[in-house]
Amino acid sequence: MTKNIEKTSPRLNKLVVIGLGLIGASVAKAARERNLAAEVIGLSRRSSTLELALVNGVIDRAEKSFKDLAPELGFGDLVLIGVPTLTVPSVLRDCYELLSESVTLTDVASVKGSIVKSAQNIYGHIPPQLVPGHPIAGSEKSGVNAAISNLFEGHRVILTPVEETAESHFDRVLALWEGVGAAVSRMGVVKHDEILAATSHLPHLLAFSLVDTLAGRSDYQEIIKFAAGGFRDFTRIAASDPIMWRDITLANKESILNILEDVINDFNVLRSAVRDSNEKYLLDVFNHAQHARQRHEKQLKTEEVSLDKAYSFHVCPGGHACAELEIPGDKSISHRSVMLGSLAHGMTEVTGFLEGEDSLATLKVFRDLGVIIEGPAQGRLAIHGAGLHGLKKPSEPLYFGNSGTSMRLLSGILVGQSFDSILEGDASLSKRPMERIVHPLERMGASLSVSKSMTPPISIVGVRTLNAIDYVMPIASAQVKSCILLAGLYAKGITKIYEPAPTRDHTERMLRGFGYKVQTAGQTIILEGGGTLRASRIDIPGDISSAAFFMVAAAITPGSDIWMKNIGVNDTRVGIINILRLMGTQIDLFNCREMAGEPVADIRVRYKRLEGIDIPIGQVPLAIDEFPAIFVAAACANGLTRLAGASELRVKESDRISAMADGLSILGISVLQKDDGIEIMGGQIGSGEIDSHGDHRVAMAFSIAALRATGAIIINDCENVGTSFPNFAQLAQIIGVDIKVGGAS
Ligand code: S3P
Repeated sequence: MTKNIEKTSPRLNKLVVIGLGLIGASVAKAARERNLAAEVIGLSRRSSTLELALVNGVIDRAEKSFKDLAPELGFGDLVLIGVPTLTVPSVLRDCYELLSESVTLTDVASVKGSIVKSAQNIYGHIPPQLVPGHPIAGSEKSGVNAAISNLFEGHRVILTPVEETAESHFDRVLALWEGVGAAVSRMGVVKHDEILAATSHLPHLLAFSLVDTLAGRSDYQEIIKFAAGGFRDFTRIAASDPIMWRDITLANKESILNILEDVINDFNVLRSAVRDSNEKYLLDVFNHAQHARQRHEKQLKTEEVSLDKAYSFHVCPGGHACAELEIPGDKSISHRSVMLGSLAHGMTEVTGFLEGEDSLATLKVFRDLGVIIEGPAQGRLAIHGAGLHGLKKPSEPLYFGNSGTSMRLLSGILVGQSFDSILEGDASLSKRPMERIVHPLERMGASLSVSKSMTPPISIVGVRTLNAIDYVMPIASAQVKSCILLAGLYAKGITKIYEPAPTRDHTERMLRGFGYKVQTAGQTIILEGGGTLRASRIDIPGDISSAAFFMVAAAITPGSDIWMKNIGVNDTRVGIINILRLMGTQIDLFNCREMAGEPVADIRVRYKRLEGIDIPIGQVPLAIDEFPAIFVAAACANGLTRLAGASELRVKESDRISAMADGLSILGISVLQKDDGIEIMGGQIGSGEIDSHGDHRVAMAFSIAALRATGAIIINDCENVGTSFPNFAQLAQIIGVDIKVGGAS
């Protein structure tokens, strides 16, 4: 296991870098710029390299002979061996002969086992001064000229001290790497080499080998001419330094051979599957790989985020808020199109599908359940419906990422299956309440369990029959209603659901579109189980919840004029329009029509002075996702805006009352949190650094706030904007918002 280490930062006396290749020279340059050592000395056999290093400001002093330099070195000095892996032993030999035990010694080789082994051979033991290290950073460029002082910023460095390594030497090396901006992890030597064989060495071997094979063909020129992103992405690393990679490959021979063996075996089976047109095997392998890759996508990204802080938004004041914007597809309808399309008989064609992480999570889950879905390609899907009883047992737990809608609705479907399933989510989803669906589903005869805190993961045991129920919903929730309706498809008898207040009715509308009878009588929804769904065509309108950010942008910016065409304006979703109009904004709807059973319109929003209001409680479920944006409008309004009856906001992707209240306070707005709402006194939005708590809508709301801010707003943890609105930043730029993604504090 890796372990993150606390920060320490004693300054070095002399830093000696032996070998001024990309890594060595970059460490030297970074240490010099950051004043991490009293003197940075470069050692190389080549005069030209040393000259360049001096001219480029990489080092303070150049030395050609270690023999001459070594006697000067003592306690507080650090020697970093930056030469290629296979050359390290000869440097270690010099160190053994010439270097005082008090000098700290480290290296940057990509393989650690071979370094430790040669130290053992040369010294007869592992010297306590040796701290083997490996920075996970680089570039395809090499040499002193390629040195960059921020090469290690936000990158990992793995240190692999052994039992003999002295803590004082370890601390000195740790301080150097942290000083140049790296995140240091500690790991065992063997583990390091195994992990690197899998994550770095093997991919390099595959890339070199593929390019070598293709380059040997007479049509290579043509291949390159037509090569698309896949070839470029896959083979980028084949442009790396061949000598370095020869050395690494030989130094980590054993671990590489182990993993290569596995890959070759799998390749052989794959070859047979291709030859025999074994569709099932191919699909299984691709599905499994896709699942594994997507499952860890978040983790891969999170790793980048925590290291590179790449998912912060820096937003500077200003922006005109005049434009015509194309808003991506509705998230709720996108989820449901995949769900019902998969459960229908026949092929459902979808356009306008939202290619955001949440709806893609739903899509992937259905693929894991054996449904064949083509696309998405520019928002188009072709779903080969499996029928209500055609889903297949998944081979692994189903992963829903950040998407509460997917997990809650799918639970309704999965309790009706004959197979068991496990439903998992990311850290935020794993904290969201599930008793709201567990309770009614159990009443229907479903067998499911959640954690003690009534949160995911959800384990579902397949049952043969479900019974219809009459259910009075204690909270107004479209997710709960939809979950029960979907379970109702599998239940014997008539399911009746009473809503305390109207919530979005996309499930009911779409079921009807698929030829399934659903009655709505006042606030009661009635459906009989045992029917069939017939494939349909679904044109998904733009998401009013995404449009909401730009409605608020126009509402708070004098002189604004924003047009958004083709937006879903279902009565159960228009709370944002009603509330902004009550506050004074001029909103006009044109070209009102129906698309696939959903009301749609073109929307024009213009600025008029905003007044604070008491938000009517009936609007709360109709604007449930729009409150982060509405709170920004309230912050720009004249006087007080009050919201009550909205305790559901506390259990969304974040506690949105507290996340917004904290952020607004940081920006100088006066707010008062209530259990079920908030009071916001309009004022001047200032500047500051805000935590979005990983909540996409909080992140976007504060980005829009910058239109009226006096200074820059930095919003951290914005990665999840991709769950609902992947191109938000681009659209924000169109209305003049000066938003930069990445490189926070
Ligand atoms: C949704 C329902 C709402 C909403 C969510 C999407 C849906 O949740 O907040 O973003 O698609 O059914 P609740 O119904 O739990 O309020």
